[in-house]
Amino acid sequence: MIKPFTLFGFITISLILMLGCSSTGGKYENGGNTAYLDGDGKRRGLFGGRKRNKSEPLQNPNINIRVDPRLARSLTYSRIRTEGPFIAMTFDDGPHPVHTPRLLDILKRRNIKATFFVVGTNARRYPQLIRRMIAEGHEIGNHTVNHKYLSRISVEEARAEVLGCERAIVAACGVKPRILRPPGGHINDRVKVWLKKEFGYSTIMWAVDPEDWKRPGSDVVAHRIISETDPGEIVLAHDIHGPTIAAMPRALDGLLSNGYRFVTVSQLIAIERRSIATLSDFGNNLLSSTVDRKERKNIQ
Ligand code: NI
Repeated sequence: MIKPFTLFGFITISLILMLGCSSTGGKYENGGNTAYLDGDGKRRGLFGGRKRNKSEPLQNPNINIRVDPRLARSLTYSRIRTEGPFIAMTFDDGPHPVHTPRLLDILKRRNIKATFFVVGTNARRYPQLIRRMIAEGHEIGNHTVNHKYLSRISVEEARAEVLGCERAIVAACGVKPRILRPPGGHINDRVKVWLKKEFGYSTIMWAVDPEDWKRPGSDVVAHRIISETDPGEIVLAHDIHGPTIAAMPRALDGLLSNGYRFVTVSQLIAIERRSIATLSDFGNNLLSSTVDRKERKNIQ
C-alpha cells in the first residue's frame, strides 16, 4: 500500500486537475493542466490526455520507458527497488481463445500494459492473439512449449522446450521474447545461468501470488491482489481461468485508485536502472511512495 499521505496528495491533485478539465466546458484542452510528462517530454493530461467519462474506468497513464534487455542486472526478478509506484501484472499459461480476448479488452479500457508468459502450444494455436498482445503494447514472455518443469528435465529437453516456445512466439508476431517464467516456478540457479547464457533470458518470478489457479473466487483474487501488492512488485495471475478474468476489473481499478501505475516486466527492469531525477518526470506526487515491505514479507 502506498503511504496515506502520498495517496491523499495524489487524490487531491487529481481532483483539482479533473475539476480543471471540466471547467473547460467539457472539452479537454491540451496544454492546460499537466500532471505528467511522458518519456518524450510531451505534455499529457493525468490520464493520458483523455477526458474521462463517469462510465469509464480510471486510466493508466502512457508510460514510455526505453527497454534494453542488456541492462538487466540480475539473473532473476520478482520485484525491483523503486521510488515510484510502478508494478507489473503478469498472466501465465495462455493464450486462451475465450478468456484472453476478454482480458485484453479489460486492459485496453484502462490503458494497462501487461506481460503474458505464453505456452508454446497455445501460441501456435492462437497466433492472432499473440499478434493482438503485441499490437496493444503488451510484452510476451516464454513459458516453454508444454509447460515443462525446467529443473526436472534434461538439458536437451529443456533446450527444446525453451526454443520451441520462442519460435512459436516469433512465428506469430516477429518479436523475440527476452524473459522467461519457469512453469510451476520450478527453477534453480544452474538453470537460471544457463537461460541467461544460452538464450539471454532473465528469469521472472513473482512477489504477489493470489493463488487464482486454486479457484478461490473472483472476490478473493481481487482482494488478495489489491491488498498484497507493493511498489516495484510483479503480480502473478493466469489468463486461462474465467474467475481470474472476472476479478480483473476490480483488482486493476483498485490498484489504479491506490496510485499504482502499470508497466511491463521489461519496463519495470528498466525503471530499476533509472535515477530518481529521471523518474521525477512522472510527477513528484508519484514519488516518495517507497514502502519497504521486504522486512514484512521477509523475501528478496
Ligand atoms: Ni504456468
